[in-house]
Amino acid sequence: MRIAIEPPGPRSRLPGATLLRFRRDRLGFLLATARTHGDVAGFTLGRQPIYLVSDPAMIQDVLELQAASFTKGRALERARHLLGQGLLTSEGELHQRQRRLVMPAFHKQRLAGYGATMVALARAHGAAWQPGRVVDVATEMMHLTRAIVAKTLFDHDVADDAGEIDAAMGVLVGSFGSVALFLPEWVVERGLWPSAARLEAARATLDATIYGMIAARRAEGRDHGDLLSMLLAAVDEDGDGRGMSDRQLRDEVMTLFLAGHETTANALAWTWFLLAEHPEVDLRLDAELDRVLAGRPPTLDDLPALPYTRMVFTEAMRLYPPAWLLGRRAARDCSVGGFGIPRGAVVLMSQWVVHHDPRLYPDPFRFDPERWAADVPARPKYAYFPFGGGPRRCIGEAFAWAEGLLVLATLAQGWRMRLVPGHPVVPEPLITLRPRHGIRAVLERRAGARGPGEAKPAARPRAVA
Ligand code: HEM
Repeated sequence: MRIAIEPPGPRSRLPGATLLRFRRDRLGFLLATARTHGDVAGFTLGRQPIYLVSDPAMIQDVLELQAASFTKGRALERARHLLGQGLLTSEGELHQRQRRLVMPAFHKQRLAGYGATMVALARAHGAAWQPGRVVDVATEMMHLTRAIVAKTLFDHDVADDAGEIDAAMGVLVGSFGSVALFLPEWVVERGLWPSAARLEAARATLDATIYGMIAARRAEGRDHGDLLSMLLAAVDEDGDGRGMSDRQLRDEVMTLFLAGHETTANALAWTWFLLAEHPEVDLRLDAELDRVLAGRPPTLDDLPALPYTRMVFTEAMRLYPPAWLLGRRAARDCSVGGFGIPRGAVVLMSQWVVHHDPRLYPDPFRFDPERWAADVPARPKYAYFPFGGGPRRCIGEAFAWAEGLLVLATLAQGWRMRLVPGHPVVPEPLITLRPRHGIRAVLERRAGARGPGEAKPAARPRAVA
């Protein structure tokens, strides 16, 4: 089936002009395109036909109802270079099998065990902070979430190799800037992409860490009761009855390691930034934590009693969605919103665009956790989709909510951040939405904060920035 209507969209007479505009300001370009041309906009990047879909119901159509007509978009095809055939990048039967194998690691009863580790690592992290010290909040959160994912899923302590991993991660995330995504495959494969060599070196560093972890675990032979033990023991009962090769194992570990910390770290970093900018919200958060936890560390069971904490984190992921763009490639001719999508075209759905749509969120750039109060009427399903949807929905969603809320509830009891004046905080859309220059802030001990077991002063002076 092919429907001949072309959607409206930005056109340029100069070849490459649209790609240039996109490269210069990806977020601005997508937002302007959707606002100007509507819920389905068509354009080309290089020679690639693109359809930007920005209506929640149509996004649901692509991600859920017509999921079988699409494969992962180009960005993730390129990520395969690094992530191999892991859960994020594999397709079809291999993806389904791997998802079945990995899923039990994210079951509710498993999360219960992870919660205590998340809180313990957050407390250890906070214990090393000193009042008055200037930190990059983004790096702080990256280190913490990396330690959490490594400990919970792989029972591995990353503290020793953190520096090397940092550098490698920086190269890796940076090299997935949008240009590379739209270059022909052969340019990338033959290393003609300028940053290919640096990317290879970064991959080798991460490989060394991960293969080292796998080898140590195989040699030890003990069941640690974590995801790595499960993956090592897993056999494909529906298929050839064999276990995973070291390569497949490496791909899964690399995938979960990367997908499992970069996103949550950014969500938390943006949350701290917003709290620092909005002292009135910070005060309410503090009051809730104080009332419910009274200085003790939180547990997973406390989370239902912390609705405001959840509202804050939800709103932060609306304003700064860590996954800001999803791509799908049409495996066959199909149609979305009445427009024909030819086979091979790429459909883009941007959380950045939808989460800032004034039809769904009046005054969309304003930080307002009240949008998520219980009495606010429900919005359409894909008006908010930080975790994607359909069969490729984030497998770590429950993990990420637990982690985000527990880390916030643990650290915000003792600490607040005061932004360093003049430091530019600018979102940079790479694989995830990172702050381009980091978020520099002074660590401040909360007035009246107490460690577990300490008595709380009756009335507490509160300094507000
Ligand atoms: C705030 C935190 C997170 C956000 C915003 C996020 C977002 C997403 C999104 C949007 C997708 C779908 C991508 C697509 O459809 O193309 C995804 C997939 C995935 N995420 Fe997350 N994620 C987060 C945390 C995590 C965590 C903590 C883990 C693991 C520990 C994880 C593991 C994965 C994996 C393995 C996939 C691929 C699933 C599949 O294709 O079957 N994510 N994530």
